[in-house]
Amino acid sequence: MHSIRLCVLSCIALAAIAVGAIANAAAQDIPSLKAKYKRPAEIPFPATNPYTPEKAALGKALYFDPRVSGNQNMTCASCHNPSFGWEVPLKGAIGSQNTMLGRNAPTVLNMAWGGPHYFWDGRAGSLEEQALGPIQADVEMNMPLPTLIKRLSGIPEYKRWFDGAFPGAGVSADSIAKAIATYERTVVSGYAPFDAWIDGDERAISDSAKNGFALFNGKANCAVCHTGWNFTDNKFHDIGMPTDDIGRAKLEPNNPKAKFAFKTPGLRDITQRAPYMNDGSLADLESVMVHYVSGGMDRPSKSADMRAIDLSQKEIDDMVAFMKTLTGTSQVVSLPVLPQ
Ligand code: HEC
Ligand code: HEC
Repeated sequence: MHSIRLCVLSCIALAAIAVGAIANAAAQDIPSLKAKYKRPAEIPFPATNPYTPEKAALGKALYFDPRVSGNQNMTCASCHNPSFGWEVPLKGAIGSQNTMLGRNAPTVLNMAWGGPHYFWDGRAGSLEEQALGPIQADVEMNMPLPTLIKRLSGIPEYKRWFDGAFPGAGVSADSIAKAIATYERTVVSGYAPFDAWIDGDERAISDSAKNGFALFNGKANCAVCHTGWNFTDNKFHDIGMPTDDIGRAKLEPNNPKAKFAFKTPGLRDITQRAPYMNDGSLADLESVMVHYVSGGMDRPSKSADMRAIDLSQKEIDDMVAFMKTLTGTSQVVSLPVLPQ
């Protein structure tokens, strides 16, 4: 107990020294701010679909199995590839008919914390519901569910895995959705230099990045939407990007603020996930900063939190340096041996 108290005292002292270097934030802010960014200790799984290792292993096989697509030529990983921050480095993802989709594939990293709405416009109410969307969409995996259930039931190992993971239910649309969602929830961004700093290692990130963090939470006002350890409020905002895509307004036609509004993406592993925004229109983080400094296009739907920001080039560089500290140690994702 005594040593814990001592640590608390010395931590406060250390933090106070660190804050001295950061001109931008009020001295008492940084330690309490840092507490808001601590990584969670556990992955939350919903009561309606609790974790089992059997479900996660089955879901992983389905995620990486081309037989889940109509032409047996696509997997979830075709558009959400672990090597590219669980996205693809394209403006719009390419579907099974070789056409480019209208929107950029978002990451599936940290989806356990991605609810309650999924997709850029939030049209799916759970990760389970979301998973069945791309399988059936003709421009994506183009696979009718009855055909998929028949195909998987005809593969003896799959049949056994489903019966084991979902006793009594076996191969069904519900089981497929639950297995894939369970696997997705295990996809969590790795420990990043930023986390080491949050955990008390002052040398884990540069002074420039520390100043970027202060600006992110201060003058640049990013943290009102990019909140918490995964850097998203999971809500919908119009940030003033030029676009014809009405986004969330398709679901909330009577909400004037829903027009051109999209779900706030998390910023973990952001350096691996270019190009940026729902239409992939911004090539790099510097271009993202140019957009935010400008405040975006003025229109009635634009968020009140979006205004031109007065930042020097040095401050912009600091913010980019900060965002770069959010990329975690890369995890080797081994491909599953697919059931035969
Ligand atoms: C052809 C490319 C493609 C394939 C294949 C694909 N996706 Fe997607 N995915 C996308 C695109 C594009 C979006 C965004 C679409 C939108 O919001 O309108 C998306 C959105 C998502 C989201 C929502 C993320 C969020 O932040 O709300 C999740 C989760 C997801 N996909 C998982 C999957 C899974 C699981 C599979 C396999 C069953 C899959 N995707 C197959 C392209 C693809
Ligand atoms: C009003 C809420 C809001 C504020 C304030 C805000 N963002 Fe965003 N951010 C979003 C939304 C919503 C998107 C997605 C917009 C789109 O796709 O059209 C986004 C997208 C991004 C992306 C691209 C992520 C990706 O996966 O493509 C980055 C990087 C980013 N913001 C950083 C910042 C920074 C840095 C600031 C502060 C200068 C900031 N944001 C302020 C809501 C906000």
